[in-house]
Amino acid sequence: MKITKKIKFKISADGSSASGKTTASKLIAKKFKMRFLSSGILYRFCALKTIENNNKYNEKLIKKIVKSITLKKLDNKKLYNPDVTRLSSIIAKKPFVRNALKSFQKNFIKKSGLVVVEGRDIGTKIMPDADLKLFFTCSIKEKAKRRLKEFKKLNSSINLKEVKKALKLRDFHDKNRKESPLLFTKGAVLVDTTKLNLTQMRVKLKNLVKKEINKKKYGSL
Ligand code: C5P
Repeated sequence: MKITKKIKFKISADGSSASGKTTASKLIAKKFKMRFLSSGILYRFCALKTIENNNKYNEKLIKKIVKSITLKKLDNKKLYNPDVTRLSSIIAKKPFVRNALKSFQKNFIKKSGLVVVEGRDIGTKIMPDADLKLFFTCSIKEKAKRRLKEFKKLNSSINLKEVKKALKLRDFHDKNRKESPLLFTKGAVLVDTTKLNLTQMRVKLKNLVKKEINKKKYGSL
């Protein structure tokens, strides 16, 4: 199925940590030849630069960091270090961090006709006009198992209990903060990935996106 290049079609994919939203967004982007942006990686980048600045940050520095972001710089394994992960959800509470990154995201979206963006506040704050809003959920047990697998690949010695604890804490911060908390937005499609394998996820997402494109008569089967 082809979507004509001039057409604009925007998909938001929100959800808690390790709920499957990144995998899903990448699958959609590949299948429908859309641009993809992980907004989480932007918060991680600000956190990494803050750590490199002896954990000190203020509005001026964050603006400077955001200005320096390039897609190439976001391809960095260090962004997934546990200390970067932890700090990213702490700085994400600050309105000046969110505002600086909001401009970056809006700009990226404006320049992309077909785009899928994943995060926590995409359907609520960044792309409230998205053509399709997805909201991912998954049981904590399954999320922890998935994350542990990723850590093992990096030879990390972290155990399941620690992974579960860290995920729960981050989700708590993200759902309960004052600024742009993670919320299910009206009109979003709930995707529970707990019992879905990759093939099932691919089929489900393909059908969801196709249905929405057809509804808007943006493409043909
Ligand atoms: O999605 P990821 O785990 O990479 O995000 C890292 C952190 O960035 C999250 O825990 C969250 O605190 C923050 N974040 C956010 N809003 C987004 C995306 C990520 O607050 N749209």
